[in-house]
Amino acid sequence: MCTTKDYSTNQNNTFKDLVAHAQAYGFIYPSSEIYDGLQAIYDYGPYGIALKRNIQNFWWQSMTQLHQNIVGIDAAIMMHPTTWKASGHLDGFTDPMVDNKDSQKRYRVDLLIEAHAMQLTEQSKSLEAKALIETMETYLQEADLIGLDKLIQTSNIICPVSKTANWTPVRQFNLMFSTQFGAQNDATTVYLRPETAQGIFVNFLNVQKTARMKIPFGIAQIGKAFRNEIVARQFTFRMREFEQMEMQFFIQPGTEKEWFDYWKKTRIAWYKVLGIPDQKIHIHPHKQLAHYAADAIDIEYNFPFGFKEIEGIHSRTDFDLSKHEQYAKKKLHYFDPNSQKHYIPYVIETSVGLDRLVLMLLSNALINQKVVSESEAAHGNRTLLKLPPPLAPIKAAIFPLLKKEGMEEKALAILDMLKYDFPIVYEANQSIGKRYVRQDLIGTPYCITVDHQTLEDETVTIRERDSMEQYRITIDKIAHLLHETTNIKSLLVQL
Ligand code: GAP
Repeated sequence: MCTTKDYSTNQNNTFKDLVAHAQAYGFIYPSSEIYDGLQAIYDYGPYGIALKRNIQNFWWQSMTQLHQNIVGIDAAIMMHPTTWKASGHLDGFTDPMVDNKDSQKRYRVDLLIEAHAMQLTEQSKSLEAKALIETMETYLQEADLIGLDKLIQTSNIICPVSKTANWTPVRQFNLMFSTQFGAQNDATTVYLRPETAQGIFVNFLNVQKTARMKIPFGIAQIGKAFRNEIVARQFTFRMREFEQMEMQFFIQPGTEKEWFDYWKKTRIAWYKVLGIPDQKIHIHPHKQLAHYAADAIDIEYNFPFGFKEIEGIHSRTDFDLSKHEQYAKKKLHYFDPNSQKHYIPYVIETSVGLDRLVLMLLSNALINQKVVSESEAAHGNRTLLKLPPPLAPIKAAIFPLLKKEGMEEKALAILDMLKYDFPIVYEANQSIGKRYVRQDLIGTPYCITVDHQTLEDETVTIRERDSMEQYRITIDKIAHLLHETTNIKSLLVQL
């Protein structure tokens, strides 16, 4: 029997704890860490990628399996360069930069100011450094170029090469990464896509015709996007290479308000199914709209560093299809068999960052609690990842109590029986208590122990992660238990 004190969701982790946990227990590492990393680029470890894939599957299935009128595609990362002229990204997807007239060197304004703030900190002027960064972030958010100009001047920031403060005015800098395509002599500049959405827009007619879709219908896609972010901080919250899960929903013009509301409600319900408490989710209506949007909201999650955007829902009108029609000189009309009219559809977009979802789920799940457990003889604090079981990287861990007397063979036979349906780990070293701790840290919902009694009556001990409760079931019931509680289906049916 187990008694726990203070067992409520006692989420008291700081952001530092979260980052340390993600790195220490195989979820997320800085990219190329042995070379001191690459700023704002991260790699996923064994448990991180499993968590990410489970979230992906849940999103993909909730879009394409639960909606008969939504189909998926996988478009290429590199697209014809005119795509970005048409979409407005070549001209409008920018951040501020500045040149030094003496050294002829160009700097991103945030990096220049950050380097100066670092020097101030080294000179024990931390408060001044903090104020400088805060002011810079306000100006960046407001795209206040004159404010940034003045900040560089009043802070006496000099060029590290020429050592002078002879700066040009601050100008905008495009966030798209570019590369050369083709032979060196006549290479064309192509861009790494800054959003996956354009791959959907340019395929609108291909999909509509080949999959025989009728409006209203949606196209979903999961894929990498790249942005040379100017403020790349807060771990995986703002990355330069990240993954988006986007769905463009093509509708009849005039129905955009109704569908905007539908997708707002549908997407918020999705977060509830993930167990995110109401008070941790915010809707933030946009005051300043992106160049393509007629209406937009952000869904925000309360991270340890405050409420921040995880998903955007945008009413994009016919902006993108009209622009592509104009630049490609190809008709992107839809013929509506009901009204017998041709029109360019309007679009409602749902766009969520997969890496931000991983961070949100880790943040929501990382718990430190006081516990008194008689059955585990555990007292004091324990740390666990209370992930929804269908998203947990490992569904169950199998332990032989001892590595002898046939327990190891029996535990391995159970592993063999379950491994085709579930990600399971086998662990035979250290005490059972230590093995429980290790699985709690990576969020495994069940531990299964094979002991002396198993050899007599074919029962095992199940220990549950969240309640620490222990009970016996027969071996033939394990698969059913895991199916019922750890399958993505158990989330889908709640939508
Ligand atoms: N197609 C619309 C679009 O891209 P967005 O608001 O710029 O809209 C959508 O991005 C989502 O992509 C954001 O809500 C966020 O979750 C994710 N995202 C954007 N920039 C990101 C970055 N630098 N790092 C991680 N995720 C990012």
